[in-house]
Amino acid sequence: MSLYTVEMPGTTFVIEGLEGEKTLEGTIPVYGAKNAVLPALAASILIEGESRFENVPDITDVVAMGRLLEDAGAFVSRTGDTLTVNAKAVHGSVMSNTTAKSLRASILLIGSLLARTGSVTFPHPGGDVIGERPIDLFIRAFEQLGATFSGSSDTYTLSAPKGLSGGEIFFRVVTVTGTEAVMMAATRASAPVTLKNCALEPEVVSTANYLISCGARIIGAGTPTIVIHPSALSAPQEAFGIMPDRIEAASFLALGALAARELTVTGIEVKHLDAVLDAFTYLGVELQMSGNAITVRAPQELHPTRLRTHEYPGFPTDAHPPFVILLTQAMGDSVMIESIFDGRLNYTKELVRMGASIDIVSPHRANIKGPTPFTGANIDTPDIRAGLAFMLAAIIAKGKSKVGNAHLIDRGYAKIEDRLSAVGVKIRRE
Ligand code: EPZ
Repeated sequence: MSLYTVEMPGTTFVIEGLEGEKTLEGTIPVYGAKNAVLPALAASILIEGESRFENVPDITDVVAMGRLLEDAGAFVSRTGDTLTVNAKAVHGSVMSNTTAKSLRASILLIGSLLARTGSVTFPHPGGDVIGERPIDLFIRAFEQLGATFSGSSDTYTLSAPKGLSGGEIFFRVVTVTGTEAVMMAATRASAPVTLKNCALEPEVVSTANYLISCGARIIGAGTPTIVIHPSALSAPQEAFGIMPDRIEAASFLALGALAARELTVTGIEVKHLDAVLDAFTYLGVELQMSGNAITVRAPQELHPTRLRTHEYPGFPTDAHPPFVILLTQAMGDSVMIESIFDGRLNYTKELVRMGASIDIVSPHRANIKGPTPFTGANIDTPDIRAGLAFMLAAIIAKGKSKVGNAHLIDRGYAKIEDRLSAVGVKIRRE
């Protein structure tokens, strides 16, 4: 079966709101994590052989990353939730403008292509409209490892024809994909590379674990200092399982806390959710844990709360939009402080059209007064996570809503309408 199993579906979700009724019921599964599979796929091009990945979500970002790998000469195929990359022969190191601009995660490939082929040419990566997304930390790190950088207005080239050298890199700002991209490239450097002030996200640890399964010597992933020692890489013996998506888990639990009689979210890696579970406690939401499943019921009343996004293990910025929906329904004054991205609160203006009382007092702070009932509206999402939050708002609203730009939601959530309708949401595409 081809990699490209995602069909070209309709671009708008039509949702009939529950009008505040808390009637959702059943089980909703969490799929493999988008932000773990993308770096793993980018890393697979370092391996002169075949890698198999299991629990791969059927999302369009995976399709786009697959295209970039194929452009570089790899063979990519998919059977069910298993994706195979054969990177025995990698020839190209010029990234397609259109595909690379469709996803920010294309930046992950610059490290592996540079390390594998000695050069990489790429456009400024695209992706979500959630604020400024510079790439200076990547460029600086690769320069520190001996690469030279050149660029015109929108196309850049990094080259290191004799390979990358060892060295010590300090990340001025904690960056998730920056840590991943430099860590993967460093596996082919000629001497040890030490990375300081690294991102601690579980997705970084997962990327390191995949590389370790290919023979890499990486010490300290999940801590601020990661040391990568030179070693030969070879095809992994076993398939690599993609970790569960902790943002999906947080979003589905938020759905349950808003609108469920009883919703069980399955396939959760509970230890990745400390900050999210703590936030639910403050909101007054009781959760029942059972292994990898969590059951949630919408409480009578949500408590107002002050949340602040932070690098892992703090509250994840990608879980902020669904939690803003919860805060709009809490009894009193809440605050959401978005500390990572300066444009990420903009989507809340659309929630105000649905009835929310949200005051954006700075690019990083929204004051929210609740509870406010919502009325259905036609809204276009600017990004993946705001898109799911709009769906949650539409689910609790009175009347019909249309959430446009569904293709952005498809970038990160597989078969979302099937999973939601299975627990009682009235949803279709058009
Ligand atoms: C990753 O993006 C995720 N993407 C994002 O998920 C997530 O929101 C973000 O980490 C924060 O957790 C993937 O993993 C594919 P950063 P990333 O570099 O790595 C600044 C989603 O919806 N910075 O950690 O691009 C940057 O501006 C998404 O799934 C520089 O200044 O984010 C930001 O303020 C969206 N220079 C901060 O670092 C650089 O060169 C952290 O961003 C790079 C980043």
